Amino acid sequence: MCGIIGYTGPRKTAKILLEGLRRLEYRGYDSAGIAVGRENAEPRLEIIKSVGKIAELAKKMPEDIDGSWGIGHTRWATHGGVTEANAHPHTDMSGKIVVVHNGIIENHKTLRTMLGKKGVVFKSETDTEVIPHLIASYYEGDLLKAVLAALQHLEGTYGIACIHANEPGRIVGARNGSPLIVGVGNDEMFLASDITAMVAYTNRVIYLNDGEVVDITRDSYTITDRHSNMLDKQVDEITWELGAIEKSGFMHYMEKEIFEQPDSIARAMSGRIDEENATAKLGGLNLSRRQLADVHRVRIIAAGTSWHAGMTGSYLLEQAARIPAQAELASELRYRNPVVENDSLWFVVSQSGETADSLYAMREVQRKGATVLGICNVVGSTIARESDGGVYVHSGPEIAVASTKAFTSQLTAFYLFTLLMARMRDMSREEGQKFTRSLLAVPEMVRDALAQRDHIQAIAKKYCRAKDFLYLGRGILYPIALEGALKLKEISYIHAEGYSAGEMKHGPIALISPEVPSVFLVSDDYLHEKTISNIREIKARGGPIIAVGVEGDTEAMALADDFIAVPKADPRFYPFSMVVPLQLFAYFCALELGRDVDQPRNLAKSVTVE
Ligand code: M6R
Repeated sequence: MCGIIGYTGPRKTAKILLEGLRRLEYRGYDSAGIAVGRENAEPRLEIIKSVGKIAELAKKMPEDIDGSWGIGHTRWATHGGVTEANAHPHTDMSGKIVVVHNGIIENHKTLRTMLGKKGVVFKSETDTEVIPHLIASYYEGDLLKAVLAALQHLEGTYGIACIHANEPGRIVGARNGSPLIVGVGNDEMFLASDITAMVAYTNRVIYLNDGEVVDITRDSYTITDRHSNMLDKQVDEITWELGAIEKSGFMHYMEKEIFEQPDSIARAMSGRIDEENATAKLGGLNLSRRQLADVHRVRIIAAGTSWHAGMTGSYLLEQAARIPAQAELASELRYRNPVVENDSLWFVVSQSGETADSLYAMREVQRKGATVLGICNVVGSTIARESDGGVYVHSGPEIAVASTKAFTSQLTAFYLFTLLMARMRDMSREEGQKFTRSLLAVPEMVRDALAQRDHIQAIAKKYCRAKDFLYLGRGILYPIALEGALKLKEISYIHAEGYSAGEMKHGPIALISPEVPSVFLVSDDYLHEKTISNIREIKARGGPIIAVGVEGDTEAMALADDFIAVPKADPRFYPFSMVVPLQLFAYFCALELGRDVDQPRNLAKSVTVE
């Protein structure tokens, strides 16, 4: 949720920290702060904090601020309101020990009471502030030793970075449940919760695991466990380029990411289709043919948009591979004491690979013996590393809080897996070839849908003042309706509900009035007539209709007040072409209403707290 950056080296530290925070801003953006250390005869730390976005922090930055090491933080509030006092960094009473933290210290109340009795006076309402005071209580001239001692008392999740005014150039970091990555440069080192913060300077990274502690200076790093045992960690090379995290001429990251989809989908399937045998090759699953043949049920864990991808995948798996499949909300599953059957294969779907709900649910079913495969975008993320195998979707960095390209890449992973499983079961080679051709045609389908940009913008202008929307679909388009509604509400703040169109008459139809538009997804499959009847039911009650349907569907066109056409295709593949107009519709509504498209209120890109 929050973002952390640390730097030690010869460059202008304040500038590096500020730039890193700008790149991390998508993780949280209610307040921010930095601490920069100068190595003078009298080493000192300068701390600047601000409520609001990084731009506000930048305005407060003195012209002459500089130093050779420091840490920074962008916050998504959990404990304590959005105030400057609650913004990080936090310090001990002397002001010499400075900490930034991502996560939640669950026993902070006990620690506050204990420290309070020793005379500590707290300046903020945060759980984090106990950390520097605790470190101070152990400090005897060696920051690492004091941090290690303090960690023994902390319960909960953390990614922390810590500096001491008297130990120039040194940063100590620790991870438990919140991501932390070391960036190894030439005569400089970075520490961050996300690669994006340092990719401009180095592509050599070390992923810390839970329970690990790092001690860095500009030319060295040592990694230990919490009991000071040295660890030998691998340095990974990342392949991202800076361009991938720039807006590249688009107004917003979300717009850029929507338009990247033909390429990102093609990347997700690249090298994974065996046209000769009309099947898919997914080496990362780490399962033999025998093990795959023994799978009789698929269960999918995810949250938000990733859950919608999982639900779409579950419909497809049942329909095309005849495997019972079910998508589960991670936040519910974990506390349900889930039953793990021997013949079930589990997936966890997560763009970030760090979502706490999904991670903990995955660990819970793994504990019960489940094999869990990850469908992740961020390489080296916790879920990707802790799952038993899986598929990287290779969308490239997704910066906008609203997930778009990761969703269609996650869908691609499910289509590939379905093809593989179906061909091992009842799907004939001819059927497989048909499926493969449709899959290969998806990037083009999406390109055609994107070409409707101006038409969709005009429709968004017409409807964006409505207070409520319904999104309705049936069958495999039902999860797409849910996804369309989520996109609209999260970035435009318009209330929107996704429903199965068939469910309307069981209650939600009471909401229909001329002020409540319904967005219908209309396939040309066996559910076409049923969906058309549902449209008529809404129309009869005066509800405006926006329909996303198939080119040439004269019936839907005649009934709808506004119609967005997608090219005719194998109906199983409409989730790809029909979600794109919904993404664009949400984007243009938010734009028209002057919303902060990339960083909508109250949200954060990667939800690392429960
Ligand atoms: O990183 P994940 O895919 O695990 O994230 C799950 C959800 O938090 C995420 O999809 C969220 O719903 C998005 N903001 C939706 O656009």
